[in-house]
Amino acid sequence: MPATSDKDFQIPVGAFQSIVGAEFVFNDTETISAFAKDETEDLFFAPDLVIKPKTTAEIAAIMKVCNSHKIPVTPRGAGTGLSGGALPRFGGIVLSTERLNSIIEIDAQNLQVTTEPGVITEVLQNAVKEKGLFYPPDPSSRGSCFIGGNIAENSGGPKAVKYGVVKDYVLNLELVLPTGEVIWTGANVLKNSTGYNLTQLIVGSEGTLGIVTKIVLKLLPYPKHELLMLAPFKDLEKAGAAVSEIFRAGITPSAMELVEIDALKIVSRYVDSAAVKIEDDVAAHLIIEVDGNHEETLMQEMEKITRVLEAFDCGEVLFADDERQKAELWKLRRRVAEAVKADGYTIEEDTVVPRAKLPALIKAVKDLGKQYNFHAVCYGHAGDGNLHIRIKKPGCIYSLNNPEVVPALRALFETVKNLGGTISGEHGIGLVQKEYMDIVFDPAAIQLMKGIKQVFDPNNILNPGKIF
Ligand code: LAC
Ligand code: ZN
Repeated sequence: MPATSDKDFQIPVGAFQSIVGAEFVFNDTETISAFAKDETEDLFFAPDLVIKPKTTAEIAAIMKVCNSHKIPVTPRGAGTGLSGGALPRFGGIVLSTERLNSIIEIDAQNLQVTTEPGVITEVLQNAVKEKGLFYPPDPSSRGSCFIGGNIAENSGGPKAVKYGVVKDYVLNLELVLPTGEVIWTGANVLKNSTGYNLTQLIVGSEGTLGIVTKIVLKLLPYPKHELLMLAPFKDLEKAGAAVSEIFRAGITPSAMELVEIDALKIVSRYVDSAAVKIEDDVAAHLIIEVDGNHEETLMQEMEKITRVLEAFDCGEVLFADDERQKAELWKLRRRVAEAVKADGYTIEEDTVVPRAKLPALIKAVKDLGKQYNFHAVCYGHAGDGNLHIRIKKPGCIYSLNNPEVVPALRALFETVKNLGGTISGEHGIGLVQKEYMDIVFDPAAIQLMKGIKQVFDPNNILNPGKIF
C-alpha cells in the first residue's frame, strides 16, 4: 500500500518491506521524530519513512525504487552532523546506515582497513590500534559518529593539524549511485593517477552524489608517545598569534587547539570538572600535543614550544603528565561544542583561514560582535586556522533563515573570505550554510558543482536541498 502524502511522490512501503524485511521499515512517531533531528541546531524535518538496510544490494534495490518514484532519500549516519546534512529537508526516506556496522578487514600487511560506513569512528580507531595501527581523523564526536558520516563531511578533528583530514586516508569507496548502480571509485592503492579522482569527489560530497557502502582507508603505524601541554594566555589574539610561530619554529604538533575562557568556564561546569583552574586574567588556552616514537625528541620539542610561547605573554604552562590528566583535558576540549550549545549559543560556525590570519579573524569576530550585538565564543583547531565560533544573542536560539542572525553571519563569512579563508573546514555546508556559498564561490564554480550533481543524480532524489 502506498503511504499517502501531500507531497508530489508516493511511497510504496510494501516494496521496501520486501527488500529489507518489514521490521526494518519504520513510520512510528518515535522513530520519525528521532530521525527528524540532528546535532546542528533546533531543526525538525520529519521523514515519511525510515529504512535500515543491511547490505549494499538492499541499498541498491531501495535506490532503484526511489529513483523510479522520485522519492527523496536522505542518507544518515549517527546524526551527529553540524550542518544539517542528515535532515530530510523534503521528507521522503531517511536511509540509516546503522546496520552496516562491520569492520570487514584490517590488512596489517598493507596498513589498510576496509569497513562499512555504520562503524563508530572510535570503534574503528581502537580496532586498528590493537594491531599497532593508527587512523588519525578524530572529530570531537568520535565516540558516537560513524565513519560514513565522516566521509560525507570530510571531517577533521584535533589531529588534522599533523595528520590531515578524512580525505587524506580514503583510498577507495564502494558507492551506490542514485540510480541503484554500484561502483568502486578507485583502487586500494597509495598512488592513483587513473582517470578523474572519483574517490575524492565523493569525500565531502555530503551524501548528495551516492551512498557509500564500503570504505578502504589508509593507516599509519601508531606513534609510541604523546606529550600534552596546556598554555594560558592573557590575550586571545596573542594566543592566536603564537600558533603560527610554533610551526615557523620548525615544529608540527599533533594537536594545537584553542579554547577561549568563556568556553572553558561553560564546559567545566557542564562536565563538572576542575581540571583546569579558571584564573581571572586568562583569556584563552592553547592545548598543544606532540607525538612520535622518541620521547626525548618530544621533550625537546615541548621545551622549544614553551620558549616560543614566552614571547606571547603566556602564563604558567601545565604539562599533563599522566594518562588521566591527558584524558581529562581532552574531555574538556571535546565536549565544548555540546556544552556551549546547551548554554544557549547557536550553531557552531566552522570558519577556516590561513593559519597566520587567525589573530585577524579573532579580532574581526569580536568587532562584529559589537557591531551586530552578539556575544561570540571561539574555540577549535587553531593549528589549522579552523576556528569554531558560536554566537549568543538574546532571543536567538537558531540561525537558519533567522533575520536576526543571518546579516551577522554574512558579515563574518565575508571577512573570512577576505582573509583568504572559507566557511567550512570540517562540518560541511548541508542545509544551514548553503545560503552563504555565493560568498566563497563564483557563479561559474557553483554551476559546475550543480552540473556534477545532475550527472550523478538526474532526478535530484539524493539528499536534495543540501549544499546549493
Ligand atoms: C569540535 C567539533 C564539534 O571541534 O567540530 O569540537
Ligand atoms: Zn571541530
